[in-house]
Amino acid sequence: MIAIVSAMHEELSAVLALMPHEQREQVAGRDFWRGELHGHPVVAVLSGIGKVAAATTAAVLAQRYGVRQIVFTGVAGGLAPQVKRGDVVVARSFLQHDLDVSPLFPRYEVPRYGKAEFATDAALSDRLAEAVWRALPGTALHQGLVVSGDRFVDTAAEALELQQDLPDALAVEMEGAAMAQVCEDHGIGFAAVRTISDRADDEAFGDFVSFLGEVASRHTAAIVQALLT
Ligand code: ADE
Repeated sequence: MIAIVSAMHEELSAVLALMPHEQREQVAGRDFWRGELHGHPVVAVLSGIGKVAAATTAAVLAQRYGVRQIVFTGVAGGLAPQVKRGDVVVARSFLQHDLDVSPLFPRYEVPRYGKAEFATDAALSDRLAEAVWRALPGTALHQGLVVSGDRFVDTAAEALELQQDLPDALAVEMEGAAMAQVCEDHGIGFAAVRTISDRADDEAFGDFVSFLGEVASRHTAAIVQALLT
């Protein structure tokens, strides 16, 4: 079974609209919707915002639903100069930008794992990138490092600092790195696609809000449809 996860209601509702006869179950304070999408058994869930919410959701998907694959869809703030509003990013790896256990461990390194970056599943990410090309022709697609932290980045100064500290980072969001780590713990394939809603600068909040209503759900539904057909 494959899980489709979003952090915000606007994104998940677009996926649920594609799933006829879905059944709702509440676990750990979340609604899990089990159903079918183009003949594939699917569970769709709203993780909520932030790394802890994402980790709880992934753990339930692993232990209670026995999912083999998780696909996260949502929005992110663009960091690298070429990553513009409306572009799409398929994550090839994740890092927690707000994790710092120095001097015990190098900055960003997750203790016990001996690394800072968690790779996404290569084959599933390839399929996701291909789904983006099919679903949204003409849209700029970037692939690479996405960074996560428990902070909505909404000043140009902070965005610049992140770019300087993590020059490979394409985009910033609040869930992916946590979900990637839990998926690695459970041997689950993980992939994530994010549409860029804002540039994580002083205009980020207004851009984010208008984008969620307009574009995010349309993108999510189109990409998920293309992935599962
Ligand atoms: N998700 C979308 N935009 C974001 C931002 N600027 N910071 C963190 N998460 C985001």
